[in-house]
Amino acid sequence: MNKTSAVKRVQQLCKELSTHNYRYYVLDEPTIPDAEYDRLLRELQTLENTYPELKMADSPTQRVGSTPVSQFAEVKHKIPMLSLANAFDEAELTAFNKRIQDRLKTTEIIEYVCEPKLDGLAVSLLYDKGVLVRAATRGDGETGEDITQNIRTIGAVPLKLQGKNYPDLLEVRGEVYMPLQGFEKLNDYARTHGEKTFANPRNAAAGSLRQLDSKITAKRPLSIYCYSVGEIVNGDVGDTQWQMLKSLATWGLRVNPEIKKVSGIDACWQFYLAMLTKRPTLAYDIDGIVFKVNSFELQQRLGFVSRAPRWAIAQKFPAQEELTVLKSVDFQVGRTGALTPVARLEPVFVGGVTVSNATLHNMDEITRKDIRIGDTVIVRRAGDVIPEVVSSFIERRPKNAKKIVLPKDCPVCGSEVVHTEGEAVARCIGELYCPAQRKGAIEHFASRKAMNIDGLGERLVTVLVDEKLIENVADIYALTIEQVAALERMGTKSASNLIAAIAASKKTTLAKFIYSLGIREVGEATANNLANQFGNLPAIEQASMEALQQTPDVGEVVANHIYAFFREPHNQKVIQQLLQHGMQWQNINVTQQKNKPLEGKTFVLTGTLEQLSRDEAKEKLIALGAKVSGSVSKKTDYVVAGTAAGSKLTKAQELNIPVHDEAWLLVLFDNYT
Ligand code: IVH
Repeated sequence: MNKTSAVKRVQQLCKELSTHNYRYYVLDEPTIPDAEYDRLLRELQTLENTYPELKMADSPTQRVGSTPVSQFAEVKHKIPMLSLANAFDEAELTAFNKRIQDRLKTTEIIEYVCEPKLDGLAVSLLYDKGVLVRAATRGDGETGEDITQNIRTIGAVPLKLQGKNYPDLLEVRGEVYMPLQGFEKLNDYARTHGEKTFANPRNAAAGSLRQLDSKITAKRPLSIYCYSVGEIVNGDVGDTQWQMLKSLATWGLRVNPEIKKVSGIDACWQFYLAMLTKRPTLAYDIDGIVFKVNSFELQQRLGFVSRAPRWAIAQKFPAQEELTVLKSVDFQVGRTGALTPVARLEPVFVGGVTVSNATLHNMDEITRKDIRIGDTVIVRRAGDVIPEVVSSFIERRPKNAKKIVLPKDCPVCGSEVVHTEGEAVARCIGELYCPAQRKGAIEHFASRKAMNIDGLGERLVTVLVDEKLIENVADIYALTIEQVAALERMGTKSASNLIAAIAASKKTTLAKFIYSLGIREVGEATANNLANQFGNLPAIEQASMEALQQTPDVGEVVANHIYAFFREPHNQKVIQQLLQHGMQWQNINVTQQKNKPLEGKTFVLTGTLEQLSRDEAKEKLIALGAKVSGSVSKKTDYVVAGTAAGSKLTKAQELNIPVHDEAWLLVLFDNYT
């Protein structure tokens, strides 16, 4: 593309991408799929790389983070960033209103703007002729830190203001925060990777903004709500707080949709009560409501006292974090066998309810945080999220505080508990036997890709287990038509259909049987690989750790799961019962398996295929000896991308792995069959 066309295209792309960005982050109403956005962004990136002089400060490519800095520069706030006085009950709020009326020598009803007080970090954004030129933290109110690089990565912050009538220079202030969902995801990721978790979304937002490497900030789910202005040159934002917020919104800045303009302090209190009820359903943490006198003229007359405005107050909500004592710890076994440590607490009022149980997540986290029984701990309850023990208050540790130990045996079924090195979660390995895992195991066993027992879904499994007709997967084969027909909502016809489906399922393949056992991390592809590698069940059962790891796709962790599964006597018992019921399959002659044309090649399928289903493609590839993996890595040989392929495609491109389309795959199949 020549320079003249490039200039035009860059402008066009910047405009288009900014609009999509605004729709996605500010309005929450995206109009194009993410993949299309990525394509446009990549196109812009390529053009900017070819013509670096076309790269502008407000280009959407500037959001991905840039070179790390060694420290943040200081920023002096032209107008100080103030704090707020607090009110803790209705009387204090009434007193606030009275002080205002007295000072203004009026008895007239005052108009207020009510705004949720987000728990995040106050920032200042400076727009010069509509372009974001600098962003700073509040710091001590007088001097903050220059975090422009980091702020640019936040999708909800416009790099360029919309419209025309914004002031030449406009300093916007607002709160950067981390939405609860993003926070939970970030912590879950940290937890499963043995990394430190953040105590709360505020700390997570602060930690993310203080990164010297903005590429890290770019990966954090941050957002912003704007609530005031600082410096203004040549322009107008209106005469009231309300008008100002509306102006900010028309310029593309994100303003909280919950804000409300009300008359009089009683209405403020009503708003507070309404938001208190709404708080658990909000997507973010709020720690109170800010009430601000609406008129700027009145604000000016009221002025400030000790660095806080007289015209505003923060009405605080009950705390979401409290201290209490950890009395004991029990372990709960989930449907997948995961053992979750549950803290039994001295009851404490937190986040609006009395909490006496909270999650401790997993053993690794307990160790990392050094939490012991008898400790005074911080408990957090936010929104609808399960209460959790955040940390331990070591200074108050009693002498007799006891370490928390993982039980050796499953508290539900007595099978062995395994805590694999490098895995956060400890599990009961009685997959086929443990009552806690029973329903999940049976549902999986009967599912389409496993034993494919038509009609035996979640609802019926629940009824059969609750009625004590079955305890484990082998019991399915002892069911009679009479037993099933006697169940609610079942007739003789549907009962005999079910029994027929159960009988038909006995004829299966070794791979499906292995898959149906529900061994941790043994999906369809791995089950197939195991069947092809060993040919028969006893060979798999008796395989050593080393032999198991010879199987394609089976590393140490998966080998460990398989090895432990077959050595758990409870599981063995159920397998024996299944065989006695007449399971049958063709063993595979392993020697014949060699010389497959795609032997040793790893494929990843992504996106939607048109001619074949992904399952069909996978089956065919495996039959030709290929490995089909769920994620792209350096070991991947080929990626086959259908329509709307996403992150796997990007990863393949990053790693320079050949990417082909469905047509190529079909030709490949033709050649080999
Ligand atoms: S107004 C002069 N409005 O609360 C008024 N602050 O305790 C100064 N905050 O540093 C702030 N939501 O970080 C204001 N809607 C809101 C707010 C808000 C959160 C934070 C902000 C400020 C602190 C003051």
